[in-house]
Amino acid sequence: MLTTANITDEIYYIGVNDRETRLFENLWPLDRGVSYNAYLIDDEKTAVFDTVKNTKTNVFIEKIDSILNDRPLDYLVINHMEPDHSGAIKALQDKYPDLKLVGNAKTFELLDDFYGPLKNYHTIKDGDQLSLGKHTLNFYLTPMVHWPETMMTYESTTGTLFSMDAFGGFGTLDGGIFDDEVNLEFYMDETRRYYSNIVGKYGAMVQKALKKLKDAHIAMNIIAPTHGPVWRSDPQCIIDHYDRWSRAETEEGVVIVYGSMYGNTQKMADVIARRLSENGIKNIRIYDASKTHVSYLISDLWRFKGVVLGSCAYNTGLFPTMETLVNKLENSQLKDRLLGIFGTASWSGGGVSNLNKFAEKIKWQQVGESVEARSSPKEKDFQQCIAIADEMAELLIKERS
Ligand code: FEO
Repeated sequence: MLTTANITDEIYYIGVNDRETRLFENLWPLDRGVSYNAYLIDDEKTAVFDTVKNTKTNVFIEKIDSILNDRPLDYLVINHMEPDHSGAIKALQDKYPDLKLVGNAKTFELLDDFYGPLKNYHTIKDGDQLSLGKHTLNFYLTPMVHWPETMMTYESTTGTLFSMDAFGGFGTLDGGIFDDEVNLEFYMDETRRYYSNIVGKYGAMVQKALKKLKDAHIAMNIIAPTHGPVWRSDPQCIIDHYDRWSRAETEEGVVIVYGSMYGNTQKMADVIARRLSENGIKNIRIYDASKTHVSYLISDLWRFKGVVLGSCAYNTGLFPTMETLVNKLENSQLKDRLLGIFGTASWSGGGVSNLNKFAEKIKWQQVGESVEARSSPKEKDFQQCIAIADEMAELLIKERS
């Protein structure tokens, strides 16, 4: 028996779980896997929405087969061409030779580059409709949420939005498929990690897409993304989160990330955190950049207003794992944070001086003076760390009102 689920009487979830792949895009850890969601509408005409990664083609096609029972598949709507969703397109058209591929002009440009040319292209434009019988599909082009061809499809009879990557996150669907069947705390964390690392750079385009959907006055009863849970009970919850993330709205809290070879820079991090706590800040996260993957750091940096970065010197530069984080931040669109800087130097400097250069580039509000200890922190260095914590806490608390 294959795992499918009814979203409505005629709309099916036909996604698959990937627990084998270690790194999404060969870059982002999949500690708890990922789902590639796809959907099927069984009407006078039949339609599938997106496919799956190529390694999952067989089980995906078996799922379609189990619902259609030898009836033809008429349409494949390609909301997003990235290979985690387009890996089974060719196999699907081999199985259903009359299958029409529905996408926009950019979709087919990319399709040809990746797999093609294929056949039976049905090119839609923004605002076009396609009737399946009782169900009507409405197409909204939403470029750069996450690739240039990305679009969303809204089924207006049931109020179902097939939203591709938008509103989706990491984590396999382990039995529970709908928002009311899972522990949302885990999925919200993994959705923010997906958003902040993969889509976050395109926050302005996400805002544009959200405005487009709002202006269309559509009732989004069900949000069906290509990763993570299907939102049928509280779709507004994920819309609100996406809205806040794409506006870079923050929560009160401080993320302290350090690179430390022998524990001296780490001591400064602990002193800053303790002082923040004494000042009434409750959300404090300390991370060793050598242990925690940068994707988790970025996810928390996206969430909280306060950022404190620390680095020892390493071969006259930043500690390598801190350099990775700083490069990623410079390439993100993360704005409007409070920034404190600390670290150590020994026979050379390079840690704090490079964090200071980062501060100049990123243009966040710097809190306190950067503090650099010689080899191991002394009392005067700790006092400077405390000054950073005091000023950070004061600024955060001021924003409460
Ligand atoms: Fe899930 Fe942009 O791919």
